[in-house]
Amino acid sequence: MILPGDGIGPEIVEQAMAVLEVASGKFNLGLSFEQGLIGGSSIDVHGEPLTDETLKAAGECDAVLLGAVGGPQWDTLEREIRPEKGLLKIRSGLGLYANLRPAILYPQLADASSLKPEVVSGLDILIVRELTGGIYFGEPRGIQTLENGERQGFNTYVYSESEIERIARSAFEAAQKRSGKLCSVDKANVLEVTVLWREVLDRLAPEYPDVELSHMYVDNAAMQLVRAPKQFDVMVTGNMFGDILSDAAAMLTGSIGMLPSASLNESGFGLYEPCHGSAPDIAGRGIANPLATILSAAMMLRYSLNMSEAAEAIEAAVSKVLEQGLRTADIYTEGSQKVTTAEMGAAVVAAL
Ligand code: NAI
Ligand code: MG
Repeated sequence: MILPGDGIGPEIVEQAMAVLEVASGKFNLGLSFEQGLIGGSSIDVHGEPLTDETLKAAGECDAVLLGAVGGPQWDTLEREIRPEKGLLKIRSGLGLYANLRPAILYPQLADASSLKPEVVSGLDILIVRELTGGIYFGEPRGIQTLENGERQGFNTYVYSESEIERIARSAFEAAQKRSGKLCSVDKANVLEVTVLWREVLDRLAPEYPDVELSHMYVDNAAMQLVRAPKQFDVMVTGNMFGDILSDAAAMLTGSIGMLPSASLNESGFGLYEPCHGSAPDIAGRGIANPLATILSAAMMLRYSLNMSEAAEAIEAAVSKVLEQGLRTADIYTEGSQKVTTAEMGAAVVAAL
C-alpha cells in the first residue's frame, strides 16, 4: 500500500515508486501497488485523516510505504482530525510498536554533517523507538479549566511491563545482529515509568548474554549523541525520547532527508517511511531529497518482503549517485552537482 500523504510526500513517494518498479522488473519481484489517502489529503476528501477502509486495506497488503503528513493549512483544525492523527491511527491500528531508525553517515556526505569529520566519520547507529505507547498515547490527556479559571494541559506518561518487554526484545535482537552493544535511554532519576523500563531491561538482559546492556539518562544521551556519537551502536527508548533523539541523530548524518525508518509489529508486518515530515517550506518546488523514501523502500524489501538482494541493489544505487556527486539542496556542498527531486530519483533508477 502506498500512502503518499501531504507536502513533499507525493513528490518523494513518486521517485521511490519509480525505483521499486525498476527493481521489481530487474529482480522479478512481481510487486503491485495500491494507493490510499492519509493526512491532510484524506481530510480534504473524507473529513478524517485516515478512514477505517484505508486502514483495513493497508493491513491486507504485505507492507506500507508512506510519505509524510501535515501542513499549515490543516493546523487550525481541532486535534482529533489533524493530519498527524492519521499517523498515530495507522501505527496503533496495525500494532507497529517497533520503530527502527538507522542513522548512517555516507562517506560521500562527510562534509554535509554539522559535526567534525573525525567525530562522525563511519557513524552507523540504530535507534529503536517504542512507537505505540508512552506519553503520545497515554490517557487521560487534554486541556481543562481549573476552578480558579486557569487552564491546564496534561498528558499521561504510561508504559505497561508487556509494552516495555516487547520493544526491549526487538532492541536486544537488533543488537545481536550488530555489534552487540545496547544502550537503553530513560529518565529513571525522575520518572517512575522509566524506573520500570530500566527494571524490565535488566530482567531480560541475562537472556541475551551476547549483548552488553548499558543505561543512560536522556539528557546525557542527547549530549553524548552530539559529543561522541560513535560510542553507540543500538539505542532503545520510549516514544517521545526516541522521537527527539532520532531527529538529533538524523542531523549528524548531514540531512534528515537521508534517513529511512521501519515500523514493525509482532508478525513482522511493517510500515516504511522517511524520518522527516512533510516539509511544507519546500513542498511543491521539486527540491526535496527523495533518498530517505527510496531507502525506506529498500528497508521494506528487506524486512517485510524478504527481498534482500533487491534492497542491497537499491542501497548500492543510492551510494553510487552520491559518489557521482549528485546532491539535492539539503545535502549540497560546494563542488557537487545540485539536482532536483526528479533528477535524483532518475539517477537512482539509472544506477539501478
Ligand atoms: P519536517 O521534517 O517536515 O521539516 C524539517 C526541516 O527539514 C525543514 O526545513 C524541511 O524543509 C527539511 N526537510 C525535511 N525533509 C526533507 C527532505 N526530504 N529534503 C529536504 N529537506 C527536508 O518537520 P517540521 O517542519 O517540523 O514539520 C512539518 C510538517 O510535517 C508538520 O505538519 C509536522 O506535523 C509534519 N510531520 C510529519 C511527520 C510524518 O509524517 N512522519 C514527521 C514530522 C513532522
Ligand atoms: Mg519527529
